[in-house]
Amino acid sequence: MTDHPTIVPPIELAQRLPASLRLGTATSSYQIEGAVREDGRGPSIWDTFCDRPGTIDDGSSGAVACDHYHRWADDVALMHELGMESYRFSIAWPRIQPEGRGRTEERGLAFYDRLVDGLLAAGIEPVPTLYHWDLPQALQDEGGWPERDTAGRFADYANIVAERLGDRVTRWATLNEPWCTSHLGYHAGAHAPGHTDAAEAMAAAYTLLRAHHLADAAIRAAASGAEVGAALNVTTIHPRGDSEGDADAARALDAVRNRWWLDGIVNGTVPNDAVAAWEAAGGTPDLRDGDLSGQRPDWLGINYYYSETVSSSSEGTQPLPDACCAPARSVVPEPPLTAMGWPMDPAAFADLLRRVHREWGPLPLVITENGAAFDDPPVTAGRVEDADRIGYLSDHLSALADAIDDGVPVEGYLAWSFMDNFEWARGYEKRFGIVHVDYDTQVRTPKDSARWYAELVAAVRARR
Ligand code: NOJ
Repeated sequence: MTDHPTIVPPIELAQRLPASLRLGTATSSYQIEGAVREDGRGPSIWDTFCDRPGTIDDGSSGAVACDHYHRWADDVALMHELGMESYRFSIAWPRIQPEGRGRTEERGLAFYDRLVDGLLAAGIEPVPTLYHWDLPQALQDEGGWPERDTAGRFADYANIVAERLGDRVTRWATLNEPWCTSHLGYHAGAHAPGHTDAAEAMAAAYTLLRAHHLADAAIRAAASGAEVGAALNVTTIHPRGDSEGDADAARALDAVRNRWWLDGIVNGTVPNDAVAAWEAAGGTPDLRDGDLSGQRPDWLGINYYYSETVSSSSEGTQPLPDACCAPARSVVPEPPLTAMGWPMDPAAFADLLRRVHREWGPLPLVITENGAAFDDPPVTAGRVEDADRIGYLSDHLSALADAIDDGVPVEGYLAWSFMDNFEWARGYEKRFGIVHVDYDTQVRTPKDSARWYAELVAAVRARR
């Protein structure tokens, strides 16, 4: 276990945060819901991907996960007990449109109706994300995200959901971490659908930008007063040394990892160096006027876990999933690392927020995800003593306070995750929850981090 002498008592930390900051937690549909064959849900690309041997570390899938589809009311009650104010969840497209287009499945909509009502009754703000990686398999069969038309299908789906929930939901996120969809899904092959084609990944990245803009308009058309944004996993990229090669590597990675998404979503433009990288990867960019002509988002979601250090040299480095588009290689990080092997760099979190504000603001920001997986000790006498996770949260919330002190407008902070869940290709072995889940019994046990976080939330609320 790592020492965390810096754990700040929640009461003290609360004094450093604005009283208006809304605090809560986040999850996503495929990672927690289970019930993949219930109430008319169609197959998603993750069902298909998990069925392929060798794709998931522990051979598992989201078929049962946390069984949240049946236990949502208890989960909402626990969030309420912990004093959470906001909850970001995602809507499973294949529950709403099992074939990815056309027919709407009423039972799917009814589930999210109940969830939203339950959250509101518990005094918790519902923050739905429309796409957290579970594309209807039927649309992948037609080409998936590299196919232009998928953006239009997404807008139709967004419109259906906004019409149904728009009277009770204000803050909407269109896409979650679209870089993962395009680059991990279509180039690294680590995520569904498991393709390994760099040009396809860039085409997917472009469709995703169009999908955001079209969905933005579709949500606004269906729900007046909607506040639309997206959750991006942009990060701080450090060059390893002072060499020109390392600086070039950092700039090239920045183009595909950061500027592509921020320019595309906030300004409706794409960076020339990323388009050049797309061509270099053998693609033929089909960029049409008006493709990205939606309005600026009302807010921007930042998912932050770790910074990236890069070099152009192969010494002490490993390839990046977006290596297709950059001469950059990732410097193998030094301990202390999280159980995911990710370095902890809270200062880079504050720097990222300052940069986003400076270069793309003014724009209200919400930290739509932040958290860490650790090899937690077992549940003992109803407790999980996860001091590492408290340390991570304390360090990153302190960094958040630093950025806010410097004038970055941050409206919310959502810890990833409310509970342990299906960590994609890493299966159930990696636990990010502040609430422990026993997958045999489905018993939920708040970890020490949940207690610490609940105290922080209460102390921030008490300042209003
Ligand atoms: C970001 C993703 O949005 C989420 O689904 C995932 O579980 C966390 N990162 C942790 O890897």
